Amino acid sequence: VMDKKIDSLLSVMTLTEKLGQLNLPSSGDITTGQSKSSDVAKKIEEGKIGGLFNIKSVEKIKEVQRIAVEKSRLKIPLIFGMDVIHGYETTFPIPLGLSTSWDMPMIEKTAKMAAMEASADGINWTFSPMVDISRDPRWGRVSEGSGEDAYLGGEIAKAMVRGYQQDDLRRNNTILACVKHFALYGASEAGRDYNTVDMSRIRMYNEYLPPYKAAIDAGVGSVMASFNEIDGIPATGNKWLLTDLLRDQWNFDGFVVTDYTGINEMIEHGMGDLQTVSALALNAGIDMDMVGEGFVSTLEKSLSEGKVSIEYIDAAVRRILEAKFQLGLFEDPYRYCDEERANTEVFTKENRSFAREVAAQSMVLLKNDKNILPIKKTGTIAVVGPLAYTKENMAGTWSVATSQDKSISVLEGIKSAVGNSAKILYAKGSNLSYDKDFEERGTAFGKEIPRDGRSDEEMRKEALQIASKADVIIAAIGESSEMSGESSSRVDISIPKAQRDLLQALVKTGKPVVLVLFNGRPLVLTEEDKTVPAILDVWFGGSETGDAIADVLFGDVNPSAKITATFPRSVGQIPIFYNHKNTGRPLGNKEGKFVKFRSNYIDERNEPLYPFGYGLSYTTFNYDNLKLSTDKLSEKDSLEISVDVKNSGDYDGKEVVQLYIRDLVGSVTRPVKELKGFQKIFLKKGETKTVTFKLTTEDLKFYNSSLDHVYELGDFEVFVGTNSEENLKSKFELVK
Ligand code: IFM
Repeated sequence: VMDKKIDSLLSVMTLTEKLGQLNLPSSGDITTGQSKSSDVAKKIEEGKIGGLFNIKSVEKIKEVQRIAVEKSRLKIPLIFGMDVIHGYETTFPIPLGLSTSWDMPMIEKTAKMAAMEASADGINWTFSPMVDISRDPRWGRVSEGSGEDAYLGGEIAKAMVRGYQQDDLRRNNTILACVKHFALYGASEAGRDYNTVDMSRIRMYNEYLPPYKAAIDAGVGSVMASFNEIDGIPATGNKWLLTDLLRDQWNFDGFVVTDYTGINEMIEHGMGDLQTVSALALNAGIDMDMVGEGFVSTLEKSLSEGKVSIEYIDAAVRRILEAKFQLGLFEDPYRYCDEERANTEVFTKENRSFAREVAAQSMVLLKNDKNILPIKKTGTIAVVGPLAYTKENMAGTWSVATSQDKSISVLEGIKSAVGNSAKILYAKGSNLSYDKDFEERGTAFGKEIPRDGRSDEEMRKEALQIASKADVIIAAIGESSEMSGESSSRVDISIPKAQRDLLQALVKTGKPVVLVLFNGRPLVLTEEDKTVPAILDVWFGGSETGDAIADVLFGDVNPSAKITATFPRSVGQIPIFYNHKNTGRPLGNKEGKFVKFRSNYIDERNEPLYPFGYGLSYTTFNYDNLKLSTDKLSEKDSLEISVDVKNSGDYDGKEVVQLYIRDLVGSVTRPVKELKGFQKIFLKKGETKTVTFKLTTEDLKFYNSSLDHVYELGDFEVFVGTNSEENLKSKFELVK
C-alpha cells in the first residue's frame, strides 16, 4: 500500500513539490500564531515545505497542518520535529546524568514517556538519541550523550530508540527517533564545539561508531548528520559516511537530515558555493535540509546542469514520504493533535513522580566521609549557593518543552521533605561567578542566574552567618544550565571561582558540608575532593530535581548511580578515559610516582580523580568468589562468569556490577580494559547474590587493521567489580 501511494504521488509531483518535501525550516513566526500571513505559511501552501520543528502545542500544529492538507495542491501532511532530548514537559535528567543510572528498562521508559507526552502535543519526530562518544569534558555537549564508552552507549541507544518508537510507529503515542550526530561529533579537537575531527578508521569502528550502529540495528527511523568533518570531508557531504557505511554496510533505510544549516556551513568549510555544497550533500546521501534551504534554492539548477539526478531527488522524497506514511500521517494528519490527550497526558502527577524517581537514580555519590549522608530531617539545615533557589537551572540544556517555572528547586525540595521537623535557612552566598568572568565573556556563563546587587563579601557574610546557626550545610553549587550543552565549551572545567571560594569558606566553619553539585560535564574537583566531606553529583535532574535531591539527601533513596565519563584531576589529562591503550612504556605503578622515560606527566599522576563506573552508596558491597566456567574457552562455547556480591553495610541498596575484559595479545593493540557487561541488582542489607555473565566469541570481537570484525585466539583477562578500577581478576584462554 505504502509503495503504491508513494509511487502515485511521485508521479504527479512537480520538481518544486519534490524539493519542498526535503525542506525543513524552523517554524519562524508561525509560532506567534500569525501563521496564515507568514512566509512559512505561504510556502506550505505552495508545497515548498516538508516539515517543521520546535513548534509547540496542538493548537499551533493543527493550524499549520491544516494549511498543508487543505490548501496545498497535493495535501501531503507535514512532519513535526522537536528536540525532545530528555523528556518533554516532564523532564528527566540530562542524558549524561541519565546514563549514570545504568538502568536500561528505566531509560527506555523515560523515552517512552517522552514520546507519549510529545505525541499528545502534536510532535511525531524527535532529534534524539544523541549517542556521540566523547572523552573530552571541555566539550559542552558531553551533557547530551552517554559518556565515553561505546558498549554502554550502544545499550542506551537501543533502549532510547525502543522507547520512542516501540514496535509500531503508527500508534499515536510513539514518535520517530533520530540518532545523532552522525558521526564522531564528540571528538572535536580540543573540545571546542564544531571543531575539526580527525581519527583513524580503526578507532572509529572500535570506539566511536558502535552506538550509532546500535541505534540503526534497533530500527531508528532517521539519522542526523554531524557538523564536523571526517577524513577531510564534512559529514553532511560525506558519501563514504552517509552512503557506503550507513546504507550499504549498515542497511539503514530511513532518512537522513542535516543538523541545522549543515549544508550551508560547508561553504565555510571550504567546499564550494551553495549550489556546489547542496549538490554535494544530496549526492552524499542527505535527504532533508534543515533550515538552510540550499536544496530548495539550488537543486533545480543543479538538475538542469546534470550535477544531480532526478533519481537521487526521488529517492530522498520517497524516504520522507515513507516516514510520514509509517507515522500514519496520510491516514490521519491530525493523529498527534488531540487536545484531550494534550490536557490529560502531559506533565501528569504519575509522570512527574516517575521523573522524580529517575532523577534520584541518576545522582552519583562521589564522596561521603564518615557517612555524613544521609542527613536527618531534624535540627537546623542551611541551604546555601546560587543554585539552591533557582528553577531555571534544574532541567538542564535542551529542555525545549519544559516550563522552567514548574521545576522544583533544591530549597523547595528540601523544605517540602522536612515539613516542620527541621528548620531550614537559606542564603544565596555568591553569584554564579565573579564579575570579571561576565565582563570577559558576555552573558554566556550564567544568564539564568540573575546577578545579585550585593557585593561578593556581603553575600558570603550572610551565608556564613546562617551557616553558623546550622547543624549541617547543603551547598548547591556548580555550573548553571547553559554552561554545558551546545556551544558551551570550557577550558577550565572547575567550579567557577566565586562558588569555590564560598564553598571553602563554608568548609572552614568546621560544620559538616554536603556539596550538591550541578554540572553538565565531568568537572575537575581535585580541591573539593580533598576538602569537602560529602559530594553528591546531581547533574541537572529535570523538572523534579529538588524533590529528588531531598530524597537522596535524607536517605529515602540510597544512591546507586555510577559515572559514565571519567573525572580528571586536571584539565591537562584530557582526553582521559578508562579504555585506553597500554603504550610501549606504561607507567607500571599505581601510586602515581613519576618515572622518567615512562608514559606519565612530571606534574600530575596518570589516574583520574574518579574512574569510569565509579559511584558510592550509603551501604557497602563486597565482591567475592569470582569464578569462570572454564579457563580454556573453545570458540564454539560460551564462558560463564560468576561472582558473589554481598551487601555488607547498613542500608538496602542497588549496585551496578560491571564486567570488563582485556585481550592480552592481538594483531592490533587492544585497550587495557573494555566493558562487556553490567547488571544492576538490588540487595537487602546483609543479602548476597550470585551474579552471572555469559560471554561468547561475539563479545570478544573487534575491528582489525583490515576493518574485519574478528576475534583472535589467545589469553584474556576478566575483571568484575564495582567500577573500572576496583575489581576482582581472573583469566582464560580462547582456543580452537
Ligand atoms: O537537534 C539539534 C542539534 O542537536 C543541534 N542543532 C540544532 C538541531 C535542531 O534543533
